Amino acid sequence: MTSKGRIFSGMRPTGRLHLGNYLGALQNWVALQNEGYECIYCVVDLHALTTETDTSHLRANTYEMVLDWLAAGLDPQKTILFVQSQVPEVNELHVILSMVTPFGRLEDLPTFKEKVRQNPENVNYGLLGYPVLQAADITLYLAQYVPVGEDQVPHIEFTREVVRRFNNRWGEVLVEPEAKLTETPRVMGLDSVNKMSKSLDNHIELAATPEEIRRRVMTMVTDPQRTHRHIPGRPEVCNVYHLHQIYTPADQVIRIEHDCKTAAIGCVDCKKIFAASLITGLAEHRERRARFAADPDYVWDVLAEGRKRASVIAQDVMLRVRDAVGLP
Ligand code: TRP
Ligand code: SF4
Repeated sequence: MTSKGRIFSGMRPTGRLHLGNYLGALQNWVALQNEGYECIYCVVDLHALTTETDTSHLRANTYEMVLDWLAAGLDPQKTILFVQSQVPEVNELHVILSMVTPFGRLEDLPTFKEKVRQNPENVNYGLLGYPVLQAADITLYLAQYVPVGEDQVPHIEFTREVVRRFNNRWGEVLVEPEAKLTETPRVMGLDSVNKMSKSLDNHIELAATPEEIRRRVMTMVTDPQRTHRHIPGRPEVCNVYHLHQIYTPADQVIRIEHDCKTAAIGCVDCKKIFAASLITGLAEHRERRARFAADPDYVWDVLAEGRKRASVIAQDVMLRVRDAVGLP
């Protein structure tokens, strides 16, 4: 089968993934792989260094995250799965791309401004250079498409500018990538206010046990107007209902919508139904994950193989880059 084009994307090693990571990104990564793109997916551990001062969990977090990648259906036979720092050519390309990066452009990026606001005591050089390293990730593999969420679009736009400047100065070596937006609504956390995220502890892990799923689902915030069992609810504003639409069979969802609007069902029962749907929906993931985890070397073997395949591309591109730049 001929490829529809080359895709690159990266995820920070955050450990076990949650529903938000899956519905917002990973599910789409798997679909692209199965639609016949040539996919390269990277654990961006160097990017994690820009904000994480405690780096002692990087290995374990990489391992746990890649287990979720594999359980979700990323197939190392088809797709390159590798760790960013294990293909060090990216650092050299990062330096070269930094020479065609205007300083002020980096300071203006919304992601940088936000990180500075969140973490004013740790504004380091690496953080400013984050998008340059990301541009190096993408261009080192001559990727044509980059599946990302809305928040990352400025980084892809930035990458395109850098590629144009590189190619104008040194010749057409790099490829201008296109963002491929993931069309999923953002998944809200259990609090229904914030996006689902591990740091806010408002998440449900893909690998959660049935007991844990039940416990977490029962804490979910529903329609705030439904302060009493007899007050009808508004499914359209309820996070539980939104997730029902993904995990509960359609005929049952129609009934839930009706019963909520007529107060025929209470939120507790509604959440019990949702917990049951989610337990069923995640069962296969959990089983596959356990099977991959049974061999503790498996994840590292996959990543070693991915590193080899990624290196072949990276080394070839760097030869062309050095030649174009005129490095002796
Ligand atoms: N910056 C991305 C994020 O925070 C992660 C990332 C790093 C990435 N390098 C990449 C995404 C290359 C796409 C392509 O989500
Ligand atoms: Fe949400 Fe269900 Fe409660 Fe309706 S009954 S508000 S859909 S949890």
